[in-house]
Amino acid sequence: MIFTVAIDGPAAAGKGTISKAVAAQFGFAHLDTGLLYRAVGAKVLAGVDPVAAAQALDPHDLEDDSLRTPAVAQAASEIAVIAEVRSALVAFQRNFATRDGGAVLDGRDIGTVICPDASVKLFVTASAERRAERRFNELAAKGMKIAYDQVLTDVKTRDARDRNRAEAPLVAADDAVEIDTSDMTIEQAIDAAIEAVRSGLGAQ
Ligand code: DC
Repeated sequence: MIFTVAIDGPAAAGKGTISKAVAAQFGFAHLDTGLLYRAVGAKVLAGVDPVAAAQALDPHDLEDDSLRTPAVAQAASEIAVIAEVRSALVAFQRNFATRDGGAVLDGRDIGTVICPDASVKLFVTASAERRAERRFNELAAKGMKIAYDQVLTDVKTRDARDRNRAEAPLVAADDAVEIDTSDMTIEQAIDAAIEAVRSGLGAQ
């Protein structure tokens, strides 16, 4: 069975948690596509050319814990504007999306560019302040010393770059179900996503 769930939205809106929960609920495979851009960003910080890094990306590169740092997130957002970087990563994502047994992919352009025919599309958002608060708490829990204001500035900078770039900008697909998690608990957000996927499965 091919069944693709596309989950897009800005940084720290809850896409990752929702995607994992949806994948676990329905037994689908999950790909966090942000990791592809982070892995390229990390190589660029180490001095590699961005296009060469994207073309040589190995799935094992995605398993590195250091990809979760704010510096790598900003580098990822910077290299994500380069058309050749994005096109080098398309085939991997489309192959993953059409694997047998169902797949959940989360990112910025899954429902619009990578999988425009996805079975279910969700667009997960929240206010910049709520997202910064959540990201700040996550980083603090990992022992990272960073000020809330800095996290909020980073979130806004990344939003502006992701939304305004020419190539595959962050935008909701016309047929996406929007979930604004600003005033939801994570359980409520997961329930809303599961409900949308269940009705998509029912419609098959
Ligand atoms: O989802 P994330 O925060 O791990 O993503 C890091 C950066 O990667 C994000 O700021 C923009 C880029 N990205 C992208 O351009 N397209 C995607 N499908 C996923 C991420």
